[in-house]
Amino acid sequence: MTVRIAIIGGTGVYDPSILDEVRQKRLETPFGPVWVKIGNYREREVAFVARHGEDHSVPPHLVNYRANIWGLKQLGVKSILATAAVGSLNPEMKPCQLVFVDQFLDFTKSRPQTFIEKGVVHLDMTDPYCPELRATLARAARELGLEHHTAGTYVCTEGPRFETPAEIRMFRQLGGDIVGMTSVPEVVLAREAGICYATIAMVTNFAAGISPNRLSHQEVVEVMAENTANLRRLVMRAIEL
Ligand code: HPA
Repeated sequence: MTVRIAIIGGTGVYDPSILDEVRQKRLETPFGPVWVKIGNYREREVAFVARHGEDHSVPPHLVNYRANIWGLKQLGVKSILATAAVGSLNPEMKPCQLVFVDQFLDFTKSRPQTFIEKGVVHLDMTDPYCPELRATLARAARELGLEHHTAGTYVCTEGPRFETPAEIRMFRQLGGDIVGMTSVPEVVLAREAGICYATIAMVTNFAAGISPNRLSHQEVVEVMAENTANLRRLVMRAIEL
C-alpha cells in the first residue's frame, strides 16, 4: 500500500492515536533525517509527523520544514492535513473554534522557503491552501457539529515570542484573522512539492492586546488538550470522506 495522506501534528497533537499498527520510520532527505510514523486507518496508510518533535522540543523558527515535506513527498503523500494552534485577531473567531485557512500573510524572517536552488521559478499562490481539502474539512466539521470558519487569513510570525499589541493591531489592519508561527513555509513547500495541503487552525486565545490576560504557552497547550478529541474526530472524518 502507498501512503497517500499525512497528518502534520502541531502544538498539542503529538501522537497518531487514530492509527493502528503504527511503525516508526527514519527517512533520509537532502535536508536531514525525518522521523515519520506510519499506520493504518480504515484500510488506508496514513503518515504522521510531529512538527515540533514528540516532546515539543523544536521551536517554530527551527522546525526543519524542508525535511518534513521532502520526506512526505518521498513516501508518495498526495494530501497533508496540518494542525496549528493560533491566536485570533478577529472577534468572530473565538477560542475553541476551528478555521480552515485560505490565505496567509508572511512575516517570517529567517526560514528557508524553497526547494528550488537553480533557475527562476515563481510559483502561483492564488490558492495556497488546497480548496478541495478545505471543502472536505468543512463538510466533516458540519457533520460533526464542530464550530468552524471555512476561510481565514493566517498571519505567520517568526516567533518564538508572542506578538506585541501594536503588531496585532497592524496585522488586523492588513486583513489578518489569526496568528501563528508555523504555516509558512510549510504551505509554500507543500505547494512546491505538488502536495494538496490544508491547515486546520484551532483558536486557543485572543491575540496580545485583545486578550485581557498576558499570553502563555501553557494556556495554548491547555486549550489544545481540551480540544484534542474534536481535532481527532475531524481528522478521522475528513480521511473517510
Ligand atoms: N500568537 C502566535 N502564535 C500562537 C498564538 C498567538 O497568540 N496562539 C497560539 N499560537
